[in-house]
Amino acid sequence: MRTSSSINLGLPLGLAPMEGVTDFATRLWFQLIGGVDFTWTPFLRVTDTFPAKFPDLFAPELSILKGLFPAPLVLQVMGSRPEDIVRTADAAGDRIEFIDLNCGCPSPTVVGSRAGSSLLQEAEVFAGFLDYIASRLGPGRLSVKMRTGFHQGEEFPRLIAAIKGIPLRHLTIHGRTRPDRYTGKADWSKVHAATESCPFPIIGSGDVCDLKSLTMRQEVSPNVKAVIIGRGALRNPWIFTGATHGPVVAAFVAFVLLQDLALESEERLVAWCTTLKPNSFRLIEEAEWGRVIESLLIKLRGKSFKTLTDIEVTPRALSRGKMLWNYLRSSLPSAFMEPSLMRASTLEGFLRQIDEIARQLQLSPANLPVIYNPEHDWMYSGAGRNAKS
Ligand SMILES: Cc1cc2nc3c(=O)[nH]c(=O)nc-3n(C[C@H](O)[C@H](O)[C@H](O)COP(=O)(O)O)c2cc1C
Repeated sequence: MRTSSSINLGLPLGLAPMEGVTDFATRLWFQLIGGVDFTWTPFLRVTDTFPAKFPDLFAPELSILKGLFPAPLVLQVMGSRPEDIVRTADAAGDRIEFIDLNCGCPSPTVVGSRAGSSLLQEAEVFAGFLDYIASRLGPGRLSVKMRTGFHQGEEFPRLIAAIKGIPLRHLTIHGRTRPDRYTGKADWSKVHAATESCPFPIIGSGDVCDLKSLTMRQEVSPNVKAVIIGRGALRNPWIFTGATHGPVVAAFVAFVLLQDLALESEERLVAWCTTLKPNSFRLIEEAEWGRVIESLLIKLRGKSFKTLTDIEVTPRALSRGKMLWNYLRSSLPSAFMEPSLMRASTLEGFLRQIDEIARQLQLSPANLPVIYNPEHDWMYSGAGRNAKS
């Protein structure tokens, strides 16, 4: 297996949980791109009746595909009652070593149901919630992902003081409060403060989009044990490999195809994964993506393809592709921001426009520059948009 090298050797870099984005097909795609040290499920919302039995297709990496991928997976849950978290961890059994609890989601629906960031309202209640779970699961079997507060953030030191005695596996901090949503900049000085007072490892999250932004955050918080990257990984999916060029078009087609196949039959996509070999990951060349696409098409659709434009996908899969493109285009040369691309009604129409733009720029679609451009940050930081965490 080719070894993965992250953009900052020595500091593990993971794919952040993103509800509506980092489902199995997307995590598989990031594993194929390579370089990522660990991945994370979006939250699994658990209640007193769900899940009755562990939903293996939510995280096949933990069961049928265990050990297949280079990067391990963190399972995240979200709930309003600590007993539901304990029951889910029990149902997961030996699929997991620990379970991660979402204490950051700012969505009004989630907060209304007393889950996500709503758990941060009172330091003592928060600590009691975590303590209930940790004492039943045992030391190191609960990890937590939180924002810096439910209110304005002044409560952060109290929250940390209340939980630092609980034997957590690790604590991930997204340096924004609930009211911040995604506006402004993540406050890494708070991440740093947590590393100073907690005995367990701290993972930092927020606004890492390239080596420079990672270094800036690390300077503020030098003792984080790992960093997770969310929107920055969608803006440059090669971020974990350190590359600023990539076979964008072929990888994009593979993304859309994986989404389509997952929508068609997740079971069959999972079964296809068992054919992957250790050298199937860290795909650098366009031809390597071509082979993956060929294998997917032959094994799952019984047909091959001559050019990428031959591939047909459902409108639903194409809109998943446009979701990715909405991020990715911000790192491409500005001509790729062309709005008519987003209006394409078929994958073929989409690819033809990309080819045309690349031709005008005299660039090869097989290897396009993917460089973080902070000028576009506003696109991904609107209050009210992307209101998940
Ligand atoms: C679309 C979207 C969905 C998210 N869903 C989750 C989630 O399910 N669980 C979670 O803990 N954080 C979630 N987050 C927050 C991210 O994990 C991360 O902490 C945050 O986006 C800041 O990091 P970034 O600047 O690297 O994106 C989500 C973020 C986005 C943009």
